[in-house]
Amino acid sequence: SVTRHYKFDIRLQNVTRLCHTKSVITVNGKFPGPRVVAREGDRLLVKVVNHVPNNVSIHWHGVRQLRSGWADGPSYITQCPIQSGQSYVYNFTIVGQRGTLFWHAHISWLRATLYGPLILFPRSNESYPFKKPYKEVPILFGEWWNADPEAVIAQALQTGAGPNVSDAYTFNGLPGPLYNCSNNDTFKLRVKPGKTYLLRLINAALNDELFFSIANHTLVTVEADASYVKPFESEIIVIGPGQTSNVLLKTKPQHPKTSFYMLARPYFTGMGTFDNSTVAGILEYKEPLPSTNSHHNIPIIRPSLPAINDTSSVANFSSKFRSLNNAKYPANVPQTVDKSFFFTVGLGTSPCPKNQTCQGPNNSSKFAASMNNMSFALPSIALLQQHFHGQANNGIYTTDFPAVPLRPFNYTGTPPNNTRVTNGTKTLVIPFNTRVQVVLQDTSILGAESHPLHLHGFNFYVVGQGFGNFNPNTDPPKFNLVDPVERNTIGVPSGGWVAIRFLADNPGVWLMHCHFDVHLSWGLRMAWIVEDGKLPNQKLPPPPADLPKC
Ligand code: C2O
Repeated sequence: SVTRHYKFDIRLQNVTRLCHTKSVITVNGKFPGPRVVAREGDRLLVKVVNHVPNNVSIHWHGVRQLRSGWADGPSYITQCPIQSGQSYVYNFTIVGQRGTLFWHAHISWLRATLYGPLILFPRSNESYPFKKPYKEVPILFGEWWNADPEAVIAQALQTGAGPNVSDAYTFNGLPGPLYNCSNNDTFKLRVKPGKTYLLRLINAALNDELFFSIANHTLVTVEADASYVKPFESEIIVIGPGQTSNVLLKTKPQHPKTSFYMLARPYFTGMGTFDNSTVAGILEYKEPLPSTNSHHNIPIIRPSLPAINDTSSVANFSSKFRSLNNAKYPANVPQTVDKSFFFTVGLGTSPCPKNQTCQGPNNSSKFAASMNNMSFALPSIALLQQHFHGQANNGIYTTDFPAVPLRPFNYTGTPPNNTRVTNGTKTLVIPFNTRVQVVLQDTSILGAESHPLHLHGFNFYVVGQGFGNFNPNTDPPKFNLVDPVERNTIGVPSGGWVAIRFLADNPGVWLMHCHFDVHLSWGLRMAWIVEDGKLPNQKLPPPPADLPKC
């Protein structure tokens, strides 16, 4: 194992897409940002220097951060943001993980342009549990706004309405030929016939789950969220924001004399506006063609994608994931649990002040989103600092996150008409090494929408999922406790539920939230506090000296 040093200079850079040039916040002037590479066991030291007026922090999405919570990155949770002119060194070690993850800004909507791949190779004496690919290619899915995304969310929060949608989806920052003024900004994957390519797919979009497909080619999924899975084939990939996946692309044995579109477009079941446009990239074969068929005339074949609201395609795809669960990569699923929780997840509204008429939905003041009807308010000082110094009850946060929903819900019947949320900064405290189960139930009280739920600090096993209301008597006996997939982000299905289990072996403060940035901004988040264990190697070390101050 080695120590790898990176330097991230956060600075403004002019970028042009869709004929709009604007100054965007970047790492080292790159959009999308630079690749960070390590092997399992390596230590990463990333010095982030902030040269822009905005506060920033960087999250290493999916990295376990075992006893290194100070390096996790969410602003006001594990650290105060890095202020303009300041710097901070993220110092962490990759323990027991290899695969594709990503890094992104974790404050407001800055991750719209501050994101990049985090590629974790196996240890040098280890190989993949599948045939070594000929080449590896990261493909980041993103969104492009002609406007400033910070202005978009600020306006939405101010008016209480939904935010404007992005102007394009992108592959590695490129919208592709189906958008106006974008022909030259097309991602091209040039391949040779008869080879296997490993595509490292990363959904870094802010607010959309995506369908992805490459015409006339089958993809074999071998990994999800940096955990190996039993390989399975599919023509369509479904990937939520915060999810990553490695897929194998086998090219045709001979030059097919055509090119192929790869397309991505959202899966959407909610209410309100959304962008139903499509990003296109081109899969192009490299071998020279016979001279009669000039390169310019090559036809391009399009894949077909499921309908925009095709929930059964999504459920079918997500049911295919199984962890490898062999001697080398066992699934350590907690067979019993110490604590079992039930969280509703959904949209709501914040109350209209008494004696006023409000413009928000159902005479509310604003859209909001919540877990167990609690809409999480960001504190003014990082929770981890407060917790470390034993200052739970100083008014910054409380430890009484509700164990059950504050208000009734019902997916299958007539939804109760109470969509009001309560605001607060509430955490849930659990002892070290607690075996936790959480059932996440979509309430659908205000529009059936799926929620990609992400947990910091842990991978969890997805032991069950279903539609309608979770049934505590009949559903648990059907849980898969043998080879469930291990992930850090899972879609809570629109009008359904998922059950996850994890071992709370990582002391610190860990955010759990919807990875749609708009829902995150509306408060769909909560924080777990995992207490120190008794042994020295079960405690969170003190903060680094350069930890930013608020
Ligand atoms: Cu990828 Cu809390 O985020």
